[in-house]
Amino acid sequence: MTPVAPPNIEATEAAIRPYRPADRDAVYAICLGTGDAGGDAAALYRDPELIGHVYGGPYLELEPDLCFVLAEGDRVLGYVLGTRDSLRFGQACERDWFGPLRARYPMPEAAETGRDARMMRLIHAGYRADPELAAWPAHLHIDLLPAAQCRGWGTRLLQRFLGRLDELGAAGVHALTGPANPRAMAFYGRCGFAPVKATPATIAYAMSLRRDQPWQNPQQSG
Ligand SMILES: CC(C)(COP(=O)(O)OP(=O)(O)OC[C@H]1O[C@@H](n2cnc3c(N)ncnc32)[C@H](O)[C@@H]1OP(=O)(O)O)[C@@H](O)C(=O)NCCC(=O)NCCS
Repeated sequence: MTPVAPPNIEATEAAIRPYRPADRDAVYAICLGTGDAGGDAAALYRDPELIGHVYGGPYLELEPDLCFVLAEGDRVLGYVLGTRDSLRFGQACERDWFGPLRARYPMPEAAETGRDARMMRLIHAGYRADPELAAWPAHLHIDLLPAAQCRGWGTRLLQRFLGRLDELGAAGVHALTGPANPRAMAFYGRCGFAPVKATPATIAYAMSLRRDQPWQNPQQSG
């Protein structure tokens, strides 16, 4: 069978726009579809919404004005989600997001392994801002479906997000990835982020945002 090429979205009507509540299911699906170090995690979960509850839902619910999607017509192809203040976000999550979710997802038994159990433990742990990253108080998640990758859309989504953070006066921003996702490591480095903290599983990339110096397009400055 002849392989079908992915659509060339550069030649179509794809555009970045603010998140709308009707995008919620698509955002959750992309979260799952990119949830295995950038690859498709659908086969790893019994409950396909769990990963979205941890990495998508709280931003959509608590920081909707810092959520942007890449959409082609009705089809959402990617997103950037985040918060301006990780400390306050953690507190709001505890009260308004993870707290209520715990009744629905009980703490797994210690012997339970697998991705569902891992996400349920994260729901019970809640989001805790890392004090070592306090100099970069905002954070973000960015994910694009394969059809939208490697075409500059990630860079443009990031620019849109950073522009909004600049309007809000955030001092800096960080994002977590890991050695299992070298493409994301290259992406953050190319976009002007620097690695500031590493553990065996995660690497924190950060960028300072100075209000007196509007954010520069890293493609121009690098
Ligand atoms: C990582 C991701 C957000 C990058 O967005 P993108 O639109 O693909 O990236 P861009 O086209 O804007 O490229 C920007 C830079 O990223 C890096 N990059 C992008 N695709 C890459 C690839 N396939 N391999 C290596 N580096 C890559 C390059 O450094 C590139 O700069 P260059 O083109 O000047 O070399 C996107 O590929 C993605 O969503 N991947 C799956 C989910 C994921 O890993 N999310 C991040 C979780 S932390």
